[in-house]
Amino acid sequence: MSETARFDPAAPLRGRYEAPPDKSISHRAAILAAMSEGTCHINGYLDAGDTRSTLSAVQALGASVKLGLPGPRGEIEVKIGGIGLYGPSRRREPVSIDVGNAGTLLRILPGWLAGQRSGSFSLDGDESIKARPVDRIAIPLRKMGARVSIRDGRLTPLVVEGSPLDGVDHTLPIASAQVKSCLILAALLARRSTTIVEPGPSRDHTERMWRAAGAEIRVDKLASMPGRSHDPRRLVVQPASRLRCPRIDVSSDFSSAAFFIVAALLVPGSELRIRRVNLNSTRIGLLAILNRMGARIEVMEDPLARGEPVGDLIVRASALTGTLVGAVEVAAAIDELPLLALLGAFAAGETVLCGAKDLRNKESDRIAAAVRVIGGLGGAIEEREDGFVVQGGDGLDGGAISAGGDHRIAMLGAIAGVASRRGVEVEGIDTAAISYPNFCDDLARLNA
Ligand code: S3P
Repeated sequence: MSETARFDPAAPLRGRYEAPPDKSISHRAAILAAMSEGTCHINGYLDAGDTRSTLSAVQALGASVKLGLPGPRGEIEVKIGGIGLYGPSRRREPVSIDVGNAGTLLRILPGWLAGQRSGSFSLDGDESIKARPVDRIAIPLRKMGARVSIRDGRLTPLVVEGSPLDGVDHTLPIASAQVKSCLILAALLARRSTTIVEPGPSRDHTERMWRAAGAEIRVDKLASMPGRSHDPRRLVVQPASRLRCPRIDVSSDFSSAAFFIVAALLVPGSELRIRRVNLNSTRIGLLAILNRMGARIEVMEDPLARGEPVGDLIVRASALTGTLVGAVEVAAAIDELPLLALLGAFAAGETVLCGAKDLRNKESDRIAAAVRVIGGLGGAIEEREDGFVVQGGDGLDGGAISAGGDHRIAMLGAIAGVASRRGVEVEGIDTAAISYPNFCDDLARLNA
């Protein structure tokens, strides 16, 4: 049953805040640990709906999973006994994996399964998953020799039978970390090296984590092609014989922190210190957008951080002006773009998002959802095929919205509520638990 909650105009957000562990890194940590040999201790795994699905998936493939004590940020210690690169081949019976709502699990895991020596693996999930395209991984995997079947040429269930893979040269049509990661995992099991070209940088957690576990992945920058690519990269992945990763530390999720960054910018009098959040440049595109809009945000990167870059942010309530966000900025801000619709309603002048058509393929159609939410609360917003246009300056009145089964839209509605004049009722707030189970408690604590 879906829960409804009210979010009223808030007192300033002040003090310190720490976001939950990163969802993308947590998914990858569980998969990498399962692919490796020996035990991996994951320090600060995200304990949320999506990442629980990944633990169940690796367990279904034969990895052992031991949970430790939960912590205050929504984290949990996890120990995974790996099964090695070809561990899933040992499953005699067909394996059915329920990915729940987790698109990242659905799109990354088949890369590993495709190159198994034997075995049949089927992946499916909830209503939202059943509507999300998987041809984007099926097509390049087949090019490598994988045996993959999907429904109606693009949807789940996705069934993959282990088979020998060839290395290929593949150019991604759009920057997608999920597709890139899927192909990297398949490439590790292929007979020769694989080359993947991405038209612009997408999040690079897979490259960093698998390299640290012993995989050989070279990344070269290529020259941009005007109108077709911006800052493209070529990855060359060599076949692997084994991976090892005794320990993985998961930093805090910038995409979860983004809701609080926006709340602090919009609620007058706020000053919030966001502690030790992941500042990987492939994830923090929102900061450059906000900077252009006039946001007062101090960034203090920790020079001693090892692995992923992390640091503190100090965010102060700010008068914003509208901006144009185009295709080259989309990948590094992909999950934060619905928040741009909210920011646009408060920013003076026009805020435009374009070149972001793939937002329609997320947990929900996030262009339609952002327009429905911000328009429904009194914002002047117009839908475009690849984005939206907001005429802002007046803020939002308030009202009632439905999350439409999408965790990030539920949290968007809540932040709209604290920034609005009359408050917002969010139907389906419980879906926030997909990525951020403590979201409501954290928000209530900061603007008490
Ligand atoms: C993710 C990549 C992004 C993002 C998703 C998580 C990942 O998807 O929207 O929430 O962890 O790789 P795409 O790479 O398909 O854009």
